[in-house]
Amino acid sequence: MRLRRDVRRFRTDPVDEAVLARCLDAFSMAPSVGLSEPWRILRINSETARAAALKNFTTANDQALNGYSGDQAETYSRLKLTGMQEAPVQLAIYCDDGTAKGHGLGAGIMPEMRRYSVVAAVTLFWLNLRAHGLGLGWVSIIDPKQLAHDLDVPSDWRLIGYFCIGTPEAISDTPELEREGWEHRHASLPIETR
Ligand SMILES: Cc1cc2nc3c(=O)[nH]c(=O)nc-3n(C[C@H](O)[C@H](O)[C@H](O)COP(=O)(O)O)c2cc1C
Repeated sequence: MRLRRDVRRFRTDPVDEAVLARCLDAFSMAPSVGLSEPWRILRINSETARAAALKNFTTANDQALNGYSGDQAETYSRLKLTGMQEAPVQLAIYCDDGTAKGHGLGAGIMPEMRRYSVVAAVTLFWLNLRAHGLGLGWVSIIDPKQLAHDLDVPSDWRLIGYFCIGTPEAISDTPELEREGWEHRHASLPIETR
C-alpha cells in the first residue's frame, strides 16, 4: 500500500496478458451493493479511440489550467496528469446505473452506492497491479459526455475513470503531486468523534 502510486510515467513495453487477467480478477472478488457487480470495462485498443480520448483529456486539461492563475497555474502547467501517450493498456471503466443485477438491494435510497462499488473494485485492482509490478494512473480530467459519444457507450453507464496501466518507469513512496509541490498528505489521520 505504501508503494501504490498513481502512475503517469510508463514504460511502453506490453503488459503480459496473463498477469493482466490475474489483476482483473480483483473485480470478481470485489464487494458490490446487493451483489450488483455494476462495473463495465471497456478496453481501449484502437488508434482512433485512443486518439479521441487523448484529445478529450488535452482539451479538458487546457480548460482546467485556465481555472488557475499565478504560481499555481505555473505549477499546474508543469504537472504530468496522464500517461495516455505511453500506457500500453488503457481501460474506460463505467458503472451501469441501470443494472437489474442485485435487484436494487442497498441502492434504493442511495443509488450512488453502485458507483461506490465500482470505486471499491478499482481500488482492489490498483493494489493487485502494484503487487504484480504494474502501475495504474486514474484519469478524471476528461469530458464524460464526449467520451461516451466517442466510445459509443450505453446511456445508463456513468464514467468512473479512464485508467492507464503498464510498468511504471520508477517506484516511489511519495505521491507525485507531493513531490511537485502541489499538495501534501496529512501528517496524521484526522478522526472526529460524536
Ligand atoms: C478519483 C480519482 C481521480 C484522479 N484523477 C487524476 C487525474 O485526472 N490525473 C492525475 O494525474 N491523477 C489523478 N488522480 C491521482 C491523484 O492525484 C493521486 O491519487 C494523489 O495525488 C495521491 O497520489 P498517490 O495515488 O500516488 O498516492 C486521481 C485519483 C483519484 C482517486
